[in-house]
Amino acid sequence: MNDWRTTYADKIVSVEEAVSHVKSGDRIAFSHACGEGQALTAELVKQAPRLENVEIVHMVAMSTAPYCQPGMEKHFRHNALFVGGSTRKAVEEGRADYTPCFFHEIPSLFRDGLLPIDVAFIQVSEPDENGNCSLGISVDYTQPAAETAKLRIAQVNKNMPYTYGNGINLKDIDYIVEKDEPLIELQPPHIGDTERKIGEYVASLIKDGDTLQLGIGAIPDAVLSFLGEKKDLGIHSEMFSDGVVDLANKGVITNAKKTIDQGKFVANFLMGTKKLYDFVDHNPDVLIEPADYTNDPFVVAQVDNIICINSAMQVDLMGQVNAEMIGYRQFSGVGGQVDFVRGASRSKGGKAIIAMPSTTGKTKKISKIVSLLDEGSAVTTSRNDVDYVITEFGIAALKGKTLRQRAKALIAIAHPDFRAPLIEEFERRFHCKYAQ
Ligand code: COA
Repeated sequence: MNDWRTTYADKIVSVEEAVSHVKSGDRIAFSHACGEGQALTAELVKQAPRLENVEIVHMVAMSTAPYCQPGMEKHFRHNALFVGGSTRKAVEEGRADYTPCFFHEIPSLFRDGLLPIDVAFIQVSEPDENGNCSLGISVDYTQPAAETAKLRIAQVNKNMPYTYGNGINLKDIDYIVEKDEPLIELQPPHIGDTERKIGEYVASLIKDGDTLQLGIGAIPDAVLSFLGEKKDLGIHSEMFSDGVVDLANKGVITNAKKTIDQGKFVANFLMGTKKLYDFVDHNPDVLIEPADYTNDPFVVAQVDNIICINSAMQVDLMGQVNAEMIGYRQFSGVGGQVDFVRGASRSKGGKAIIAMPSTTGKTKKISKIVSLLDEGSAVTTSRNDVDYVITEFGIAALKGKTLRQRAKALIAIAHPDFRAPLIEEFERRFHCKYAQ
């Protein structure tokens, strides 16, 4: 019997043996976010004493990222393409790095040799009848990393859903580790009154038949909660979560009006609970594809009426959006924000929305609408790209507006406690009265 079962059996090794093939100086790419093969990560850290200068490349770490713990820098250096909660301290303390990049360009960093991958640590579904495994909930840069790596080590986990639009054949895997363990989950966020108000404003810009791109967190979930009466919505996003499943089950999201990938939910990774993972498993209506397809602004532009909803740290009075830094601290990354903002601006009927609470901080004493971005922070979305900015105080539509008009529109949606100093700055900068 020389079918895929033989290939599969021949490649199974213990996790210790699989990871023993990693060498000092290698660059390893991990499956992204909730797709991370936790058994492979745990074993790599166990083998730390024999390793030096191993670079670990990935985006959002949803695991505890033990390779970022103090003392691990002798063995591992994390290169974050997006900083997450468990890797932030290491980046801040100089024990890990951040590489600025658009999500849609990450596959080409691997393919074009700017960031060549030695080893891909991937987590996959059980093989199908043709010996193809699915990359399940993390395809994004993971499939391109697996395609280009010199060595591919796969954790086969029966809990990894089989999703369409991606895959790797057993013949292209070097070592297989069988380990069934629960996937990392992201619990639905708490939606407060502020998020609900923002969600309502965002939802007011969405009409029947539109296609949505959503980021992560309370605001996207709050938006979804206002869409229960809509018809034929679609999804073309970098990710989606449990909230989308509820609207799909209600028949609100049908993808029927999409101008590309009609009838399909399209994303490149997924983060949620088992409810989401069960929904996508063997679901022919769901396509999970690499980021150089889903996030390519030229692809996004072909989705008519795409509404892209992302968030930010700060927006200054010119409309410059900082979505990733707190002063000099790299808090997160650009992710797909600019990919989708640019795609939406070229889409017929598309809208790019930056939605954020007007204030932040434990006592809500920091305004997110600011005169100047904090020293040290980066511009994520430029003032030329920005369109709608929404807070719980309303909607500022900035495209086509002068600097004076956009400053005025932004002050109107700032928290009332912070409007006076912003107005002072407006009058100083534009040599005119705000009230005129
Ligand atoms: N000044 C100082 N601190 C600020 C701040 C500001 N202007 N804005 C936010 N913060 C702090 C908050 O107080 C909070 O701190 P805490 O963790 O100590 O509580 C932290 O930053 C996160 O803020 P929060 O409002 O909870 O952020 P969020 O979870 O809604 O995420 C972004 C907001 C901007 C960080 C997030 O959307 C992001 O990373 N975007 C990346 C770009 C993007 O949109 N990509 C597309 C989707 S991946």
